[in-house]
Amino acid sequence: MSAPVILIFGITGDLSKRKLLPALYHILSQSLLPADTKIIGISRRPLDVDDLLGSVELCVLEKDNVCDPAGIQRLRDTIESFQLDPSNPEDFVRLRELLDALDGDTPRDRLYYMSIPPDAYAPIVEQLGQNGLNGSYNRLLLEKPFGYDSESAKDLISLVHKHFKEEQIYRIDHYLAKETAQNLLTFRLNNPIFSALWNSDHIDRVEIKAIEKIGIEGRADFYEKTGALRDLIQSHLLQLLAITLMDLPGSMSSEDIHRAKQYFLEELLPADPSLASRAQYDSYQEEVGNPNSTTETYARVHLNHSAERWADVDFVLATGKGLVEKETAITIFFKTSHGHSSNNLQFNIQPSESITLDLIVKEPGLDTQTRHTALTFDYQKIFNDSQHIDAYERVLMDAVRADQSLFSSDEEVLATWRVLQPLLEAWSDNSEGLNKYQLGADPETIGT
Ligand code: BG6
Repeated sequence: MSAPVILIFGITGDLSKRKLLPALYHILSQSLLPADTKIIGISRRPLDVDDLLGSVELCVLEKDNVCDPAGIQRLRDTIESFQLDPSNPEDFVRLRELLDALDGDTPRDRLYYMSIPPDAYAPIVEQLGQNGLNGSYNRLLLEKPFGYDSESAKDLISLVHKHFKEEQIYRIDHYLAKETAQNLLTFRLNNPIFSALWNSDHIDRVEIKAIEKIGIEGRADFYEKTGALRDLIQSHLLQLLAITLMDLPGSMSSEDIHRAKQYFLEELLPADPSLASRAQYDSYQEEVGNPNSTTETYARVHLNHSAERWADVDFVLATGKGLVEKETAITIFFKTSHGHSSNNLQFNIQPSESITLDLIVKEPGLDTQTRHTALTFDYQKIFNDSQHIDAYERVLMDAVRADQSLFSSDEEVLATWRVLQPLLEAWSDNSEGLNKYQLGADPETIGT
């Protein structure tokens, strides 16, 4: 592997501090990247790398948060800062000079990581293109949301395609890089006893929930424009739904996986606003300094699919912030037979990582009392966490290795916006049906 140059736009932002820098620290401390890899932290203001690293909890991915001093030093030696004003074309000329100097005789792979909102990265992509920083060894990593609705997503896709080819574009969805999410496809491909059950004859509904304890963590500007629907449902939850239910791909190649996801997403029916609900936690308006904000911090959506295979199966996607606990899980509810209770199969993505099949058994004794019990595969118990790779480490390593399997294609992005467009319109700038909940609430208690 040739030593890449990783450029992070938005190095001082929340995502960079919470996820990217800890992931880069861990990758470098494990020597997973070539020794002369370079990381360029780009910011508008002058940046002192030591100050930046001093302000980040770098070792959250380590056991007991204990850092390896050699790993910290490796990160320190790898990062340099670069001041850039996106509206100043001359800064891109300086950037090109720096990158050319780093290349020497052989061009290095370059990864431009846009850890900034879409309206901020559009002018940067334009300048990269105009300055010739878009040759085949340049890759663009884009953070979600990919636009704000169908129209803006189309505009963004054409702008990005003006300068970069699809094989150079990596639209990040770090939920697909989580270990249990990745295991979904492996599970489906290698446990054929479930294939016969994967249809509307046997499945009643599929629920995907991703709830969080944290609030918006100071990201008022970002969240005011985004809200729960755009932040998690448009990307993470619809992607999880697709890999859970799509037809199995012909192979595990990136093209086949994308094709299968795309077909599944394109056949989802547009969301019906009368079947969706939204809510906002009670201190949100004060937190963002907008007493009229109608941005939802909780959203729950019911979807249906047009394929015969999924006729009348209810897909329920729910997400929210400021709730009782952090939990991400996919649950398949099977149909009841002869009025008996139903089984379910649950993929727990976080915090516990497990797969659970809920069974009904007879309790001991003369009576025929039944009880639910679970057959559980628990990652920690079986694999003892030895090889644990965080989602952002995986995202970065896959982009370095040019493997696009876990990233979203432009067709997938457009399909997901199309599905949610009726809700975006119904919820835009009005508070009709916007419920309130207290911080720390149980999502079951939020009104619909
Ligand atoms: C991000 C969202 O994509 O995912 C954040 O923008 C959210 O709002 C985060 O907090 C959750 O990620 P994770 O990996 O902590 O579940």
